[in-house]
Amino acid sequence: MSGKKAKEKEATISDLLIEERKFEVPDEFRKKANIKDKDIYKKAAANREKFWAGFAEELHWFKKWEKVLDWKPPHARWFVGGKLNVSYNCLDRHITTWRKNKAAIIWEGEPGDQRTLTYRDLYREVNKFANILKKLGVKKGDRVAIYLPMIPELVIAMLACARIGAIHSVVFGGFSAEALRDRINDARARVLITADGGYRRGSIIPLKHDADHALLETPSIQHVIIVKRGDFPLHVKEGRDHWWHYHMEEAESYCEPEEMDSEDILFTLYTSGTTGKPKGIIHTTGGYLTGVYATTNWVFDLKDDDVYWCMADIGWVTGHSYVVYGPLACGATVVMYEGAPDWPDRDRSWQIVEKYGVTIFYTAPTAIRAFMKWGTGWPAKRDLSSLRLLGTVGEPINPEAWMWYHKNIGQERCPIVDTWWQTETGMILITTLPGIDSTKPGFAGRPFPGIEADILTEEGVSIQKGGSYLALTQPWPAMLRGIYGDPERYVQQYWTKWDKKTYFPGDGAKRDKDGYFLLLGRVDDVLNVAGHRLGTMEVESALVDHPVVAEAAVVGIEHEIKGQVIAAFVTVKEGNTPGGELQDELKEHVVRKIGAIARPEKIIFSADLPKTRSGKIMRRLLRDIAESKVLGDTTTLADATTVEKLKKHYEEQES
Ligand code: PRX
Repeated sequence: MSGKKAKEKEATISDLLIEERKFEVPDEFRKKANIKDKDIYKKAAANREKFWAGFAEELHWFKKWEKVLDWKPPHARWFVGGKLNVSYNCLDRHITTWRKNKAAIIWEGEPGDQRTLTYRDLYREVNKFANILKKLGVKKGDRVAIYLPMIPELVIAMLACARIGAIHSVVFGGFSAEALRDRINDARARVLITADGGYRRGSIIPLKHDADHALLETPSIQHVIIVKRGDFPLHVKEGRDHWWHYHMEEAESYCEPEEMDSEDILFTLYTSGTTGKPKGIIHTTGGYLTGVYATTNWVFDLKDDDVYWCMADIGWVTGHSYVVYGPLACGATVVMYEGAPDWPDRDRSWQIVEKYGVTIFYTAPTAIRAFMKWGTGWPAKRDLSSLRLLGTVGEPINPEAWMWYHKNIGQERCPIVDTWWQTETGMILITTLPGIDSTKPGFAGRPFPGIEADILTEEGVSIQKGGSYLALTQPWPAMLRGIYGDPERYVQQYWTKWDKKTYFPGDGAKRDKDGYFLLLGRVDDVLNVAGHRLGTMEVESALVDHPVVAEAAVVGIEHEIKGQVIAAFVTVKEGNTPGGELQDELKEHVVRKIGAIARPEKIIFSADLPKTRSGKIMRRLLRDIAESKVLGDTTTLADATTVEKLKKHYEEQES
């Protein structure tokens, strides 16, 4: 029997597949592609370790590894015994070549200010900042929290940590003070790097002000370094707070890179799971760098004269792997933009493409659906002829959005790579190779060479037809190595669905006769709101933290642009009156606890929640109610009348 949830999802998704179309790679693209050999999949599968070692050999190692892979399921070690430094590979390796004066980062702030840092510039800044961190007592293995807007200092700070072997934990600037506090405390970070503020849609996000709230309850933090982004008012605490620019003026210009073991931790990044508490995903050095280097090079067909722009915020894994580490390891020119795509106008993204001659553009389906809604007039105003490859990531892309992207942005000339992966996988795992594979709207593609994926039933039986659970059946270099501070949860969460050798990503999938995978979305209690991952339990915990809330159940409901939005069913404690004011208050409460990305779209008050006889909330029925669908099977309910009452009540509230 295949997964029930996967089957449900399959039904909705196949409705969306208006037609199964195939797009061949244009000849002009194919001729110049980095990878043209169709047998590469077979060759890689014949000797996976040799395949990955080939990429690792292109990097710089202080000491070569003794063994490519040590796999004691579910624990893998890659390039065992090898020593390297990630910042050395992203910087020093390039500045001894002609690339030294190549633009590494072309940055544009939301108000229109610009900065370009060559590899040489970036090298200098990273070395200086690494020395500042050292001076403040940061040592190899120490954790550094980073809470910055999308400015070059964010990249500099990450690479400086990598240079001295400190573990960075970047917290997305849109997370609230409380979310920042919890992440700092979980990592027991010694230093926080933040800014006076950042620009978003014409407003200022007061990061230091928010961080000050977090800092009231973060005993591990000894120093705070503040980047002066603007001239925004803030409080500076003597002795603890330091201005970035004061220190940089005096910092020494060279810092010896630390020789890191291939398996030393490079960073942790928090992501939502099925419990109320986000997990600190651990990524290490050698395997991670090899994985992101290989995929950036092959999936994006990256060449030295490309201008590469990934729209993701560095606060998410896409930014870590495909704004910072992958592209810089490849010596690419990376465009970075601070603000919103509709500021001051809805052609801001296309203006950036035109201005800098962007050739590779990588974004999320949510953004594409928003562009679609804004209309074709905006991209038509700009010259997009520099583009040669497009990418998408983060959620399933509906064929309509794919076609719109293909026609209006790619001008029917650019291949689209739909890339499936996760915070945990570190690198792209399922996609198409643009010089070889044709593309199909809605299908991500095949496992990257050297990656083994399957579709398994609940019992672990591989199926060719129909939807079920996606599974990864062999280890890969950039795979997570654990959950910070919680080794058991690592095993439990990812490696117990079938056997200890098979990774369960939590997604449903099906495949076609060509072996192309179509992703069906999450089959667990993880939501994907506008491409951002959130746990239902996380939002529920935020709601029940409010004094009047007795119980809360959160579901994701379909949304035209964001893919999913949050609907929360709430029961209030006796003596409280539910109403519009309380709805607003609860929404704000969630924003305060997590951040604006978690703001529920709908709050529905209910006297009771539908539960099974064992007390489990039946989210499926709640989803049916919130999406105004016919109710599914109610036979397992403890009290079948609850759900009918709730549905009626909901319809009254909505009308
Ligand atoms: O459900 C899948 C979806 O995003 C989840 C991972 O989220 P996160 O760790 O935040 O990383 C997002 C960026 C890599 C997956 O479990 N997802 C990601 N990419 C795709 C996708 N779903 C369908 N198609 C994709 N291309």
